[in-house]
Amino acid sequence: MKIAVLAGDGIGPEIIAQAHKVLEVLRRDGLKLELEAAPYGGAGYDAHGDPLPESTLKLARAADAVLCGAVGGPQYDALPREKRPEQGILRIRKELQLFANLRPAKVFEELASASSLKPELVAGLDILILRELTGDIYFGEPRGRRTNARGEREGYDTMLYSESEIRRIADVGFQAAMKRGKKLTSVDKENVLETSRFWREIVKDVAKKYPQVELSHMYVDNAAMQLVRNPKQFDVIVTGNMFGDILSDEASMLTGSIGMLPSASLDANNKGLYEPAHGSAPDIAGKNLANPLATILSAAMMLRYTFNEEEAAKRIEAAVKKVLGQGYRTADIYETEMRRVGTIEMGDAVVAAMQ
Ligand code: IPM
Ligand code: MG
Repeated sequence: MKIAVLAGDGIGPEIIAQAHKVLEVLRRDGLKLELEAAPYGGAGYDAHGDPLPESTLKLARAADAVLCGAVGGPQYDALPREKRPEQGILRIRKELQLFANLRPAKVFEELASASSLKPELVAGLDILILRELTGDIYFGEPRGRRTNARGEREGYDTMLYSESEIRRIADVGFQAAMKRGKKLTSVDKENVLETSRFWREIVKDVAKKYPQVELSHMYVDNAAMQLVRNPKQFDVIVTGNMFGDILSDEASMLTGSIGMLPSASLDANNKGLYEPAHGSAPDIAGKNLANPLATILSAAMMLRYTFNEEEAAKRIEAAVKKVLGQGYRTADIYETEMRRVGTIEMGDAVVAAMQ
């Protein structure tokens, strides 16, 4: 099991170090894990002038799975778009054809009161946001700047989905729903966007293969509202790249903190890239403050989806639940009378809970 480890920037190296410790426990206990690190994001730019250096992409291609931290930092904000750290993540997703992004928002009962919503609204919440990851307005061409007929400058992007792109993500959505509560909500903006009208039409067609799944459609603005009004009405949400980006950040807060939300980005053969859904948090980088649990839970998803090591995945998830039960809290999920710990101590607690 070859894993490329791309720690990235900001808190990336700190949270990745904790996931590393957890994987080390599994390795000692016999899992044949091989980890190799490479620079990407701002670190890739610093080392090789490219947020996704050729050598890093090569390592990622050769690996069975990729474990990522986070990218970005204010020192890179002025770079041209193709040199910015974010391009590292967008390009690796595209290069490896990781079109299916799974972002489960699951509330640990220990954290129900850390949510920004009332505990009874989120207790027991378990929803899956499935975000299409290699299409939409993030990749559509043409894009750029131009001067219009009135002589005014404008910026533009293209929202675009091909039929095959919609079909394959819809299939993943229905299949995920089959393994869960058999409810799929497709989120779009069909009342306004041509892309969404097409999206809805294709999703309906794919639905014919899955008569056991109850399919519904929802406009994205309503979905954003429903997520905070009554999140438990959802089982699986399938949506495009941009809507999924936004809704998954929103859903993360239901779980108490974006520091709790893992993600898996899969290709058609379950090769995957695993990363926390949050960013590089430059403001707290290097301060031993970041919550490593989203990254540790991402490692669990890696064992489950790419390596079929369900038992190892469960072992990690049970350890996370245990440390929360023991009261360990990083700053983002801290509540009075809990045991406030830093990034490293949280990693150590998870390792201890695995024994
Ligand atoms: C995410 C992030 C990225 C995205 C950024 C860093 C490019 O927000 O993974 O959700 O928009 O996909
Ligand atoms: Mg995002």
